[in-house]
Amino acid sequence: TPVLNVALLGGGTVGSQVARILTEDSELLTERIGARLNLAGVFVRNTAAQRDYQLPSLLYTTDAEELISRADIVIELMGGIDPARELILAAINRGAAVVTGNKALLATHGTELFTAAADQGVQLSFEASVCGAIPILRPLRDSLSGDRVTRVMGIANGTTNYILDQMDTTGISFGDALAEAQRLGYAEADPTADIAGHDAAAKVAILASLAFQAPFTLDQVDCQGITTITAEDNEAAAAAGFVIKLLAIAERVSTNGDDGVVLRVHPTLLPREHPLAAVRGAYNAVFVEAENAGELMFYGAGAGGEATASAVMGDVVSIAKRLQHGGPGRPHTPKTSLDALEIGHTTTSY
Ligand code: NDP
Ligand code: HSE
Repeated sequence: TPVLNVALLGGGTVGSQVARILTEDSELLTERIGARLNLAGVFVRNTAAQRDYQLPSLLYTTDAEELISRADIVIELMGGIDPARELILAAINRGAAVVTGNKALLATHGTELFTAAADQGVQLSFEASVCGAIPILRPLRDSLSGDRVTRVMGIANGTTNYILDQMDTTGISFGDALAEAQRLGYAEADPTADIAGHDAAAKVAILASLAFQAPFTLDQVDCQGITTITAEDNEAAAAAGFVIKLLAIAERVSTNGDDGVVLRVHPTLLPREHPLAAVRGAYNAVFVEAENAGELMFYGAGAGGEATASAVMGDVVSIAKRLQHGGPGRPHTPKTSLDALEIGHTTTSY
């Protein structure tokens, strides 16, 4: 059986679950791909730390460059900008395909990475970067590519939805709910990204880039988080028949005949009977409106190691099948950053 070497950068909440699936479901994956995925190693800070899914200790390494040099597929699940950015570029430049769940990186340096991937003719896939297990990016990019999306709106951060839901239903404090979200593996390494709305803002920038087929970045999102929401706010909302949800919105607007897209993230009062009011815990839901398709709704686990690992593995299997069975040739050289983004997306595993 042919072998494809996989390098895992990050062995935390999501990385551990990816390691588990690669190990425990190895036979099934081999059958589906026609090649065996060999986990060549896991890049971490602390090679001695106990992991959610423990691999033989010799698989943990602090030498990312060496690990990447042996890989056909590199999975980046470290988070943060650097060194994740440099390591993804190193992987691309070595001709490895890359899968990442790093929305903070894509929403700030996406064009650079997609351009590099297009130049090298390698795939860069990122379904796990938005809304955990929910398959939302492929439908936006592929299924709706012949339509005109007018709006994408929803709950795109599991941690804040969990906190707001817990405050609403159990009366627990903001701090205690956040601590529980961290314990359950929903929050970012620095949870400020969640509660200040930056994580949802990064996601809405990625959603908008696919929905409106133009590159949007984090700094284009008007962003307000949930840090100022108190137990009294929740009580007042509940008494009036509302629930507070952190919404991420990207919509096409027309001002004086000029078309544009507005991106924003902010807490919103929703009537209790609104479909998004029923989104509990760390679940996410995204409404998409398109001129011909009408309204669509995507719903599921938005955070957590296992759920997110499912999306990562979808990208990995898709890439592995293409590497194994051959895919389209090298993409055209991009001319502009927008071309680069579009061409970069066509190099992903869909
Ligand atoms: P964790 O913080 O749990 O894990 C990060 C891992 O990366 C750790 O194993 C850590 O090593 C390693 N790491 C981080 N920085 C370095 C570094 N500089 N050098 C070496 N190793 C490093 O993060 P998550 O698993 O929760 O998230 C990973 C990525 O997936 C992030 O981009 C996140 O936004 C994204 N994501 C997370 C989701 C979730 O629900 N948790 C959902 C969707 C996406 P060590 O353990 O030794 O410190
Ligand atoms: N911290 C993120 C969240 C992880 O809570 O939604 C999933 O992207």
